[in-house]
Amino acid sequence: MIDTIRQILALDPPQKTVTVEGWVRTARSGKGVAFLEVNDGSCLAGLQLVIDPGVPDFEEIARVGVGAAIRAVGELTESPAKGQRVELKASGVEILGPSQDDYPLQKKRHSFEFLRTISHLRPRARTFGAVFRIRHALQMAIHNFFDSRGFIQVHTPIITGADCEGAGQMFRVSSLELGSPPMKDGAVDYASDFFGEETSLTVSGQLEAEAFALAFKNVYTFGPTFRAENSHTSRHASEFWMIEPEMAFCDLAGDMELAEDFIRSIVKTVLDRCDEDITFLDQWIEKGLRRKLETLTGSKFEILTYTEAIECLGQAKRDFEYPVSWGADLQSEHERYLTEELLGRPAFVIDYPRDIKAFYMRVNDDEKTVAAMDLLVPHVGEIIGGSQREERLDVLENNMKLFDLDPKDYWWYLDLRRYGGVSHSGFGLGFERMLMYVTGMQNIRDVIPFARTPGNAKF
Ligand code: 4AD
Ligand code: MG
Repeated sequence: MIDTIRQILALDPPQKTVTVEGWVRTARSGKGVAFLEVNDGSCLAGLQLVIDPGVPDFEEIARVGVGAAIRAVGELTESPAKGQRVELKASGVEILGPSQDDYPLQKKRHSFEFLRTISHLRPRARTFGAVFRIRHALQMAIHNFFDSRGFIQVHTPIITGADCEGAGQMFRVSSLELGSPPMKDGAVDYASDFFGEETSLTVSGQLEAEAFALAFKNVYTFGPTFRAENSHTSRHASEFWMIEPEMAFCDLAGDMELAEDFIRSIVKTVLDRCDEDITFLDQWIEKGLRRKLETLTGSKFEILTYTEAIECLGQAKRDFEYPVSWGADLQSEHERYLTEELLGRPAFVIDYPRDIKAFYMRVNDDEKTVAAMDLLVPHVGEIIGGSQREERLDVLENNMKLFDLDPKDYWWYLDLRRYGGVSHSGFGLGFERMLMYVTGMQNIRDVIPFARTPGNAKF
């Protein structure tokens, strides 16, 4: 059997016949000996191979290029060299897939900008190995968290006829001829399109999740979402994954309690499970990362109202690019000031003005604000957006009209208020933003295997 390098490195030497398969990360040859460091993605560290001239095809193996795929067999021994506990004294090495001199990952450190141009090879670089192992661990932690609390996962549709968050930011899905679509009264006739209506890629699974919450009580989605916003920032992607829990018989306070437990729990799992990768990222990407994450698992998040946030920003001795006034949305400079400078830790901002939030949020008694919550964290800003949902049919219908939405288009959503509608709440966590927070990576493009952003969908 062929063990992963992670398993091999945990063995106690000596071990007679160990076989390893992987890619050459570094190659050195000295007088009468060659050293190859091999990695297979199972962990950050590589396995050092020591190859003597007695090994068949020594000359060829000593010249093997970085990036080549190999299989080696030999004896695992204690390493006399610094930096590793064990090494493999190879008795045979097979070059399964040679590499070439122009293999782009020769150098130790490349810029992230350059590595984005080789998204197909960067998974073999250390940083990306760490990031994508953590991405996997984080997603498992998320599923386990909800599963252990009895939540049912719902697979909400990716193609949709409904616009959840407000018009204008959706990618259209159509099988019509782009150049000559059928027209009716001067407009494209979507009735003759594939689905018989205008359809898009979903921006959120929330509305459908609400239907399932009103049957299963506690549900969550974990799926891809798409936004055609032309935002060229380090925190916006056009295709990203969102986790959306939705709970019936639950108000905004319960919603925040779940969000806090959730974030703390998944961070703790990553700390437990990805120790080596976190240590690496702490050293090379964000100094103090581990301490930041450990502190988070043990501290309460701050809660402040939007109105309080505006007051704090008004008192800040600081020229913001966007002026602060009650009714204006918080910009990322404001979010950063609040969470990085004023509080120094994650904070929920609640009770936003109703005009700047979505139509489905529950109107508060002051009729000016809604029971919304955003979770802001240092350096990343908003990672969660959520709310209590408007369960009162008349208030919801009225809200739709204020937002220029036709209640007829949302008949099924309104039905949920007609038949057993009850107080319910939920939120959406941006998976990549969470991953940025957990890894310390500063650009969302570097936590997505193949990022889709304005102007880029190549690979
Ligand atoms: O705040 P948003 O827009 O909320 C919703 O979509 C609600 N339907 C969620 C709910 O209540 N069920 O998005 C939720 C989160 C944001 O807080 C952010 O972390 C992430 O999704 N997000 C993005 N992440 C990357 N790129 C983008 N363009 C994002 N837009 C939102
Ligand atoms: Mg939001």
